[in-house]
Amino acid sequence: MLAKICVFGASSKVSVSLFTLRNIRIYSAVMSKFDLPDRLKGNDKSVWVEYIQLALKYKPLNLGQGFPDFHAPENVTKALVAATASDNPLLNQYTRGFGHPRLVHVIARLYSKLLNYDLDPNNEVIVTNGAYEALYATLQGHTNPDDEWIIIEPFFDCYVPMVKSAGGIPRFIALKPKSTNASLSSADWVFDRQELESLFNEKTKGIIINTPHNPVGKVFTLDELQFIANLTKKWNTLVVSDEVYEWIVYEPYKHIRIATLPDMYERTITIGSAGKTFSVTGWKIGWAYGPANLLHNLQVIHQNTVYTCNTPVQEAVAVGFEQELERFGQPDCYFVSLAKQLEPKRDYMAKFLNNVGMRPTIPEGGYFMIANWTALKDKVRLEEETDENRDYRFTKWMTKNIGLQGIPPSAFYSHEHKHLGEDNVRYCFIKKDENLKKAAEILLKWKSQ
Ligand SMILES: Cc1ncc(COP(=O)(O)O)c(C=O)c1O
Repeated sequence: MLAKICVFGASSKVSVSLFTLRNIRIYSAVMSKFDLPDRLKGNDKSVWVEYIQLALKYKPLNLGQGFPDFHAPENVTKALVAATASDNPLLNQYTRGFGHPRLVHVIARLYSKLLNYDLDPNNEVIVTNGAYEALYATLQGHTNPDDEWIIIEPFFDCYVPMVKSAGGIPRFIALKPKSTNASLSSADWVFDRQELESLFNEKTKGIIINTPHNPVGKVFTLDELQFIANLTKKWNTLVVSDEVYEWIVYEPYKHIRIATLPDMYERTITIGSAGKTFSVTGWKIGWAYGPANLLHNLQVIHQNTVYTCNTPVQEAVAVGFEQELERFGQPDCYFVSLAKQLEPKRDYMAKFLNNVGMRPTIPEGGYFMIANWTALKDKVRLEEETDENRDYRFTKWMTKNIGLQGIPPSAFYSHEHKHLGEDNVRYCFIKKDENLKKAAEILLKWKSQ
């Protein structure tokens, strides 16, 4: 025992032995030595950690985190079973560090076709532990102290701690809805071009973009991407393009890869996710592709942290890709059918959110919908929650009292811009129809009380 304080008698006199005092001093010295290192300070709050705990405690209908509550496509789950039970014993052992050969080859084949450029599977593709690790390896591997990264708000929340822990400085620009109509589309959320231009300077290392976008659902237009591309060429910066939802785009919109714009491949690192591509978020396999000199920096981080990813899962993802390449562009190709399957779910959610008086933004891509909840503010007892931001109070109160969980979008803004997210809630609609129906019923019942 390091320290023991004894309290004697009614006078509450505290008797502390010299021995104990010495131990308290040692104890506090030991503790401060083990405090969070300075470079990680301020990074200890995570909306995912907090809201998973909340869901476990209150068991709401969970439309918070972005994962399907239905089965993954059978061809990939069967491929995983086959890989682990294969005659080839090596499929259960370590594989090549920068990506299982079968997987990097098929990833290179797919993106060579999409980019109209012959990707070298061994040097221009890296497989990572989810898109998360690809982002981490990119930002750790490409940041010197005080390098600036431009981040578009709202942003996938890990971008900022990753930039900061690498010694970089995030600079923010917010997407803002340009329309005040009752019906909002994610296309209405735009960045101010002059403001973006003003953020670029000699210290800018790069810009992180996310299209299709989480949480707004925006699919960046050719014109917007061209504008961003021109600035990155003017200031000689990188682009990190987080395209994990590349196959989830609704008609008539089209996903454009910024790496395909003129002279952009050489400055772009593009990131993808098997979890999002094949609806297997628990598999945590991602990748990055880009020119060999840029990927080298990611390899250095990867080989000294993760070194190599799960072999049978990589094998199964490779099989999945090979099968989709055979039926590429056809209606039964998962890259086509997933968005078709999700579109009615999106429309159903938009309808029931409208019906209860929320104001949803209809996404062009991805599987999240943000909705303005402020018309219902009189039905929520925000004062029962203690969080600083209203959307945190709204989502927590709803989880505990109404049984429906969403995510507070202010988690996706910098400290100074959190107010821009506070009137909204983010719901995920890659859920079984019966659960979306339950969500509609929960909200309608609450509204009518
Ligand atoms: C925009 C974005 N990027 C990256 C990720 C992380 O993907 P993965 O699960 O493959 O690590 C997510 C997951 O939700 C995401 O929404």
